[in-house]
Amino acid sequence: MKRKTLKGALTGVVSTAMACAVAAEALAAAVPTGMMLPTANAATPSVVIYSTDFEDGDVSKFSKRGDNDTSVLAAVEEATAPSGSKVMSVTERSKGWNGPSFDCSTNLEPNVKYIISVKVKAQWYNNINVSLQHTTAGAAEPSYTNLTKGVSDGSWITLETSFSFPETDKDVSVYIEATDAVDLMIDDFTIATAPDNLDFDAPSLKDVYADYFKIGTACTAGELAPKTTKDLIKKHFNSLTAGNELKPENVLDKDACLAMAADGNDTDPQVTLNAARSILDFARDNHIPMRGHVLIWHQQTPLWFFKENYDEEGDWVSKEKMLKRMENYIKNVFTLVKEEYPDIDFYAWDVVNECLVDSGTPRKPGFPAQDNRYEQSPWVQIFGDNSFIKPAFEFAKKYAPEGCKLYYNDFNEYMKTDAMIALAEEVNSDGRYLDGLGLQSHLDVSNNGDYDPFPTAAMYKKQLDKFCATGLDIQITELDATVENQNYEGQAQYYSDIMDAIVANKDAISAVVFWGTTDDQSWRADRDPLLFNKDYETKPCFDSIIDGIEYTAPEPTTAPPTEPPTSPPSKEPVTWGDANVDGKVDLQDAVAILQFAALPTKYELPAMGVINADIVDNGTSGVNGIDALAIQMIDAKLLKTNQLPITKEKLDSIN
Ligand code: GLA
Repeated sequence: MKRKTLKGALTGVVSTAMACAVAAEALAAAVPTGMMLPTANAATPSVVIYSTDFEDGDVSKFSKRGDNDTSVLAAVEEATAPSGSKVMSVTERSKGWNGPSFDCSTNLEPNVKYIISVKVKAQWYNNINVSLQHTTAGAAEPSYTNLTKGVSDGSWITLETSFSFPETDKDVSVYIEATDAVDLMIDDFTIATAPDNLDFDAPSLKDVYADYFKIGTACTAGELAPKTTKDLIKKHFNSLTAGNELKPENVLDKDACLAMAADGNDTDPQVTLNAARSILDFARDNHIPMRGHVLIWHQQTPLWFFKENYDEEGDWVSKEKMLKRMENYIKNVFTLVKEEYPDIDFYAWDVVNECLVDSGTPRKPGFPAQDNRYEQSPWVQIFGDNSFIKPAFEFAKKYAPEGCKLYYNDFNEYMKTDAMIALAEEVNSDGRYLDGLGLQSHLDVSNNGDYDPFPTAAMYKKQLDKFCATGLDIQITELDATVENQNYEGQAQYYSDIMDAIVANKDAISAVVFWGTTDDQSWRADRDPLLFNKDYETKPCFDSIIDGIEYTAPEPTTAPPTEPPTSPPSKEPVTWGDANVDGKVDLQDAVAILQFAALPTKYELPAMGVINADIVDNGTSGVNGIDALAIQMIDAKLLKTNQLPITKEKLDSIN
């Protein structure tokens, strides 16, 4: 796109980020443990939910990770403590996964984006992880997601990241682990709600590109949980891809497969949409078309799926048996989505993913693992080569929902253009099974800190032109472009050049999908590859890809905001503090109040909630951050609900 001067936008982003960082720092120092205060400089400010520097000697909010974890947690004096004189020591760890865990199900609310920040020190060079444990709806086993990591060489490191979880997740905790069973020291642990600066007045990407192609995003169930992420997706995107939840590892129902196999049928893999449900419900309820991703892949597909009796330790099954499993898997997935989500427009599905290495040849036989750089494929193990791809498309064509186009999807596509096109021709040699090619487009703006894009925009365009000349439908399926040293101007220029190449081929391209929503939630979060920053603000690359495109903004369809009532609208009794009118007074009410106070038109409270929420100096100052503070004091057991409403003077005397 035509580039305009973005200096102003850049300054805005940096100064807001700095202001937030300063505010967070000040809070960590000033806020008593467990206390919440509104911060400045954000449309909806950050709220500290829990913060400790262990100076009070209390480690009771942390536990070891189950009975087999040998860790001993204690508050101890430490000369190198980053703040005060005490830290939490974690000793007697006997496994890498041992370590302190903070219970999110008890202490936090679902559907809220949190920022966790913690200082950690290990005895010598050690990888430290902050991870999330959660059990998704219907799953027998917990899942473990690494949120962020760093290396401590015996000095203190700060780890900071964001996370959220849907209400369907059970037993949610965040924990700190180190790869080796060494002692750890922890200090300055803070969990705060994330600021929310989503700009509802910015142009909508999907409207800007309405005459060209769909504009999509991908997100996991956890990432989708916060209301603001939902709002961001609803505003900007008309295509949604589940980040992980429609991959075989989440769709295959192992227990049901085993039960079926025990009855003598081990070629009819049973499937479930439980992991994807919150994403599917959201797409259905908001009429957002979906890209299905992915049926046949060497990764994120369990080993047992390829083995006799669905037993990891068993023999590889024969080609014939695997073909039957493949057909029934594809049939069962498509049958289930048609039955359970008939109203979702699955307009595209990646049938096969990533079967070609950069030289354009098949993968090696085996199972993907860290020590073979995830390159080996169990499909090649069983079929000997890539001959499983054509039947996969034939089965998919037979069972796919009506109107759903089928794609072969791959990365580094600009290096294997000819091989991908040849593969498509081979699949379609006796019919039209494959409708198009998915170009992942995971790109890089910087190399070793310098502006040195790979591929160059010219290289990208040359290969894209080739793909688009085939007559196949082309979709950009996982676009992101990493950048180093916050060179957001360079990133804006590169994104602009790439979008120019895409727009030049608009007649052959039906969708452009970004892989993720905000930078902090990206799989490449350390190098800020997306259009929105962690606070949901648009980045210079957002401006650069819409700059110069003529479009007509549709008329707003949302109802105008209603004025908050001044008197009770009904005969409902007042429940002081219950801002969201869910029958409880808890931290969710505090969050609802802060959001309402900051942006009442965006974050409406129910009429009764506005009345319930005005608990400090009732009737004089309206609903504001002090009301939220009072609720946090209730949560911290400093105040009781029967003391509400309360005067500000009395509140100050307790605080
Ligand atoms: C590949 C896959 C995606 C996703 C990304 C990284 O590109 O196709 O499903 O896993 O890697 O997150």
